[in-house]
Amino acid sequence: MKDKGKVFLVDDDPLIVSMLARALKTEGYSVRSQSTELRTVTDAVSSFSPDVVLLDIKLPEMNGIEILGNIRERGLNAQVIMLTSDDNLETAVKCMKLGAVDYLTKPFNIDEVKIVLANVLEKGRLKNEVGYLRKVYEEVFAGEFIGESPALAELKKKMEKIARSRVPSILIMGESGTGKELVARCLHRAMSRETDEGYAPFIAVNCSALPETLLESELFGYEKGAFTDAKTEKKGIFELSHRGTILLDEIGDMKLDLQSKLLRVLEERTVRRIGGRDEIPIDVAVIATTNRNIPEAVEKGEFRKDLFYRLDIFSLHIPPIRQRKEDVPLLAKYFLARFTAQYNNKILRGISPEAEKLLCAYEWPGNVRELKNVIERIVVLESTETIMPEQLPKEILHQQSALPSQAGKRFVLPEEGVSLDDLEKDLILQALERARQNKTLAAKLLNISYDSLRYQIKKLGLTA
Ligand SMILES: Nc1ncnc2c1ncn2[C@@H]1O[C@H](COP(=O)(O)OP(=O)(O)OP(=O)(O)O)[C@@H](O)[C@H]1O
Ligand SMILES: [Mg+2]
Repeated sequence: MKDKGKVFLVDDDPLIVSMLARALKTEGYSVRSQSTELRTVTDAVSSFSPDVVLLDIKLPEMNGIEILGNIRERGLNAQVIMLTSDDNLETAVKCMKLGAVDYLTKPFNIDEVKIVLANVLEKGRLKNEVGYLRKVYEEVFAGEFIGESPALAELKKKMEKIARSRVPSILIMGESGTGKELVARCLHRAMSRETDEGYAPFIAVNCSALPETLLESELFGYEKGAFTDAKTEKKGIFELSHRGTILLDEIGDMKLDLQSKLLRVLEERTVRRIGGRDEIPIDVAVIATTNRNIPEAVEKGEFRKDLFYRLDIFSLHIPPIRQRKEDVPLLAKYFLARFTAQYNNKILRGISPEAEKLLCAYEWPGNVRELKNVIERIVVLESTETIMPEQLPKEILHQQSALPSQAGKRFVLPEEGVSLDDLEKDLILQALERARQNKTLAAKLLNISYDSLRYQIKKLGLTA
């Protein structure tokens, strides 16, 4: 018969021990027991390493609670079910607090013992599986957050503080591919570790991918009959991610109507299902990300000011790689190590200095994601020992010609003179175009502040 698991019985009554041992052996469990010399129970448990211990609370030499404490102190993996001879609920509750998983009251019926035992074992199995999957998941999806540039060191410090305080809502801003989702996952991991609550869910929702009504029912859930298709009630993601984290990706694309509902949730910390009356309390960390310039969207009336203020209390900005070039070699080497291991590439080991120079000079419009893809492609397709310049994509290899050598360059004033206003206008328009109308970026290109750019735009009548 298939081995169902190992059970250790501890009871001073030899009759109970033999009755249980016989019944459980027939069921397919391996059983060991102890009814005397109770002082050595913990050692015996340790050497047998059972899945479950059935432990009597009242023992002559030693209290069962003490043994439970010893088992836990020694970090033994076994799950403990207490056996009580009376309906002393208080003691049973005390045992559960000390780490027992269940209890049985004597006289017990053997079928009841079998059911409780099977449930406890199944729960233990699921717990192990979740622990294992979680580890794999974290390794695959979360990865490490690489970077030692001052900007990133600063960011990491802020992340630590935010995670430690278990801040309920966080906004992560940054261009596409800068690592917003990665930061969100790192925060989630740090926050769930702090609470030590075991498996805490992380649910990501892309606000730009779903139509508004669908997004609303996904987030808030609905009651049966709330609308034609609502055949049964459904819990929303706010409820499902209880004690965990919900990632609202691309919050900048959320419609205004839904934004106000979200703000209500963030302020009240409760949700109401669509068609429902009850306010359901929620305990989740809400992390929103965006690659849009939210202040600009607020200005245009596309994002609610109050929601922005609420989210902006704790906001993180991940700078694009072109502003932290020190991180490029670190990231490149990190991805090289990761992908050579993943694809079992035993030849490629490093990056030539020339290639590294090119990688550092490049502007990386797609940020870390682009860098990661470049390295992955090389690991799969190339078979040299080090990455050489000619293995890099064209846009990286041939960038020098495009690189302006600002130093020593000066504007030559045309013979007939120039209209400074027109020149200014023209340069501002060019900067806006290159920055795809993102004023913050355009201001950087012109080396002026965001406010002075706004002032100039107004002054020169550039607003469309
Ligand atoms: N600092 C970093 N260290 C290691 N890997 C990183 C880092 N930053 C980003 N990555 C990796 O780069 C890829 C892109 O990151 P991520 O998906 O988090 O970006 P994003 O900001 O959410 O992008 P988008 O706005 O396009 O959704 C991911 O594979 C991520 O693991
Ligand atoms: Mg993302």
